[in-house]
Amino acid sequence: MKYNFDRTPDHRRNGSFRWDLPDVPDDVIGMGTADLDFECAPCIREALLPIAEENCYNYRQRPDRYFNAIINWYARNYGLEVKREWLSTVPSTIGAVRMALGIYAKPGDAIIVQTPAFNPLSWAISGADCRQIANPMKPVNGHFEIDFDDFEAKIREYHPSCYLLVNPHNPTGRVFTRKELEKLVDICYSNGVKVISDEVHGMITYGDHEFIPLLAVSEKAKEIGVQIVSLSKGYNVMSLPHAIITIANPDMQKEWMRQIQAFSFGYATNSFAIEAITTILEGKADEWMKELNAYLARNVEEAMTFFKEKNLPLIPYRPEGSFLLWIDCRNAGIGTRNLDKFFLEKAHIHLDDGLDNFGPDGEGYVRINFAVTEKNLREALSRIEKAFSCK
Ligand SMILES: Cc1ncc(COP(=O)(O)O)c(C=O)c1O
Repeated sequence: MKYNFDRTPDHRRNGSFRWDLPDVPDDVIGMGTADLDFECAPCIREALLPIAEENCYNYRQRPDRYFNAIINWYARNYGLEVKREWLSTVPSTIGAVRMALGIYAKPGDAIIVQTPAFNPLSWAISGADCRQIANPMKPVNGHFEIDFDDFEAKIREYHPSCYLLVNPHNPTGRVFTRKELEKLVDICYSNGVKVISDEVHGMITYGDHEFIPLLAVSEKAKEIGVQIVSLSKGYNVMSLPHAIITIANPDMQKEWMRQIQAFSFGYATNSFAIEAITTILEGKADEWMKELNAYLARNVEEAMTFFKEKNLPLIPYRPEGSFLLWIDCRNAGIGTRNLDKFFLEKAHIHLDDGLDNFGPDGEGYVRINFAVTEKNLREALSRIEKAFSCK
């Protein structure tokens, strides 16, 4: 490996949401918030240093280089032809979802979403004064599937204006297949439902699982879709806030741009984010990303083998994408609520409780972020084993 993913900055001192926690012992392993422990690709540092050296943060245009990089990135990685007039930029994925709901839904509208659902997405729905309609994911043969009968029935009953797709799905780790995506789009298209697609986890996939951006699904998807991607999860650039929005339908694009103007996102540009994102999209971090995927794939194997061999009363769902492991603890004899407290007290691991972070369909589950060094992962797993052996 050219890059060293065993090395990690001191996140207990850099304000990390995951590691720099108040009132917990110093040995607690941070496995909550979805970011990476690793140093970023070196090309990002190289792109940012000249900006800091210049020390001038004037209003800046997004250069042609930036738009060309996005267009080429979609073509190179996904065979998707994107036109420049389809593109815009906002500071965050969740902000983009909230904006889309403000534009394509009215207060009081139903919004359908696969559950368990990541809290900030539910907050975007309630923040737009809309109602979340749950389409619960079904566990089938060791993975979660979309319940299409329920999806169609809820659409007929509640007439949602928008469907909020999260692909790869957080927290279940599913990467939806082309067949599933086509079916979802077809149902939405024939029922007049727009699709808002959060694709923030799309850069990390395992084995044969292939991430497909919404607008690459079909012509129908281009007519009803809002495609939202951020490089933050894959490249660990969360504090360079940035999301790329692709809307092909000219009427939807016109409405969107009106709000971009209203929020001043047309000129409110972070020069660090634009430079870092351009560098990544141009391919300078491609090799780093390949190695990251390989490192995380080894962590998945390590964790899945551990749970299989130790025969603990915990059922992990093998992720197809993302760096999150969704674990069913309902038969573990530790209750179904505040499970984070159990793991913190008994194993000194900080992770995300299913109910608190993903709503009622997350009750009895926990989510572990395994984008940690192999050493920390092994230590965390051995602490889990001990916690259950002396329970
Ligand atoms: C599905 C999903 N969407 C969005 C986000 C956050 O993205 P952003 O920081 O760009 O708003 C997360 C972060 O965990 C996420 O899991």
